[in-house]
Amino acid sequence: MYICICNAVTERQVHAAVDAGATTLSDLQFELGVASCCGCCAEMAQEYLPGGRCSSVCQGKSMAVDLTASAPMVDAQPAANSFPIALVAAA
Ligand code: FES
Repeated sequence: MYICICNAVTERQVHAAVDAGATTLSDLQFELGVASCCGCCAEMAQEYLPGGRCSSVCQGKSMAVDLTASAPMVDAQPAANSFPIALVAAA
Protein backbone atom coordinates (compact mmCIF):
# COMPACT_ATOMS: atom_id res chain seq x y z
CA MET A 1 0.00 0.00 0.00
CA TYR A 2 1.22 3.46 -0.83
CA ILE A 3 1.53 5.88 2.05
CA CYS A 4 2.81 8.81 0.02
CA ILE A 5 1.43 9.05 -3.49
CA CYS A 6 3.49 12.09 -4.44
CA ASN A 7 6.76 10.29 -3.75
CA ALA A 8 5.61 6.68 -4.31
CA VAL A 9 6.54 5.62 -0.80
CA THR A 10 5.06 2.35 0.36
CA GLU A 11 3.99 1.10 3.76
CA ARG A 12 6.83 -1.42 3.62
CA GLN A 13 9.40 1.34 3.12
CA VAL A 14 7.98 3.30 6.05
CA HIS A 15 8.08 0.21 8.29
CA ALA A 16 11.68 -0.41 7.24
CA ALA A 17 12.67 3.17 8.02
CA VAL A 18 11.04 2.95 11.45
CA ASP A 19 12.68 -0.40 12.11
CA ALA A 20 16.00 1.23 11.16
CA GLY A 21 15.49 3.95 13.78
CA ALA A 22 13.21 6.65 12.40
CA THR A 23 11.23 8.12 15.29
CA THR A 24 9.82 11.38 13.93
CA LEU A 25 8.06 12.60 10.83
CA SER A 26 11.20 14.60 10.06
CA ASP A 27 13.15 11.33 10.02
CA LEU A 28 10.70 9.87 7.49
CA GLN A 29 10.82 13.05 5.42
CA PHE A 30 14.61 12.93 5.35
CA GLU A 31 14.86 9.20 4.65
CA LEU A 32 11.96 8.70 2.25
CA GLY A 33 10.62 12.08 1.23
CA VAL A 34 7.26 11.36 2.87
CA ALA A 35 5.08 14.46 3.34
CA SER A 36 7.49 16.64 1.42
CA CYS A 37 5.15 17.61 -1.41
CA CYS A 38 1.42 18.08 -0.79
CA GLY A 39 1.62 16.85 2.80
CA CYS A 40 -1.58 14.81 2.64
CA CYS A 41 0.26 11.73 3.89
CA ALA A 42 1.81 13.30 6.98
CA GLU A 43 -0.89 12.15 9.40
CA MET A 44 -0.86 8.60 8.04
CA ALA A 45 2.94 8.41 8.05
CA GLN A 46 3.00 9.43 11.71
CA GLU A 47 0.82 6.42 12.57
CA TYR A 48 3.79 4.21 11.60
CA LEU A 49 6.11 5.87 14.09
CA PRO A 50 6.63 4.30 17.52
CA GLY A 51 3.40 4.63 19.51
CA GLY A 52 1.26 5.01 16.40
CA ARG A 53 -1.61 2.73 15.46
CA CYS A 54 0.38 1.10 12.65
CA SER A 55 3.70 0.93 14.45
CA SER A 56 5.74 -2.24 14.22
CA VAL A 57 7.82 -1.16 17.19
CA CYS A 58 7.05 -2.96 20.40
CA GLN A 59 6.09 -0.55 23.16
CA GLY A 60 6.65 -3.05 25.98
CA LYS A 61 3.03 -2.96 27.06
CA SER A 62 1.79 -5.88 29.08
CA MET A 63 -1.35 -7.03 30.75
CA ALA A 64 -1.40 -7.89 34.42
CA VAL A 65 -2.63 -11.39 35.12
CA ASP A 66 -3.59 -12.47 38.62
CA LEU A 67 -1.88 -15.84 39.02
CA THR A 68 -3.17 -16.25 42.56
CA ALA A 69 -6.81 -16.42 41.50
CA SER A 70 -8.16 -19.93 41.76
CA ALA A 71 -9.18 -21.64 38.57
CA PRO A 72 -12.51 -23.43 38.46
CA MET A 73 -12.16 -27.00 39.65
CA VAL A 74 -12.76 -29.78 37.20
CA ASP A 75 -14.73 -32.71 38.50
CA ALA A 76 -12.39 -35.68 38.93
CA GLN A 77 -15.24 -38.14 38.65
CA PRO A 78 -15.60 -40.03 35.37
CA ALA A 79 -18.16 -38.58 33.05
CA ALA A 80 -21.62 -40.07 33.28
CA ASN A 81 -21.36 -41.27 29.72
CA SER A 82 -18.26 -43.33 30.69
CA PHE A 83 -16.28 -41.65 27.97
CA PRO A 84 -12.60 -41.57 29.12
CA ILE A 85 -12.43 -37.80 28.71
CA ALA A 86 -14.95 -35.71 30.61
CA LEU A 87 -17.08 -33.81 28.20
CA VAL A 88 -17.73 -30.36 29.59
CA ALA A 89 -20.10 -27.96 27.97
CA ALA A 90 -18.68 -24.49 27.51
CA ALA A 91 -20.46 -21.94 29.63
S1 FES B 1 1.01 12.22 -0.63
FE1 FES B 1 2.85 12.45 0.44
S2 FES B 1 3.53 14.43 -0.05
FE2 FES B 1 1.74 14.18 -1.17
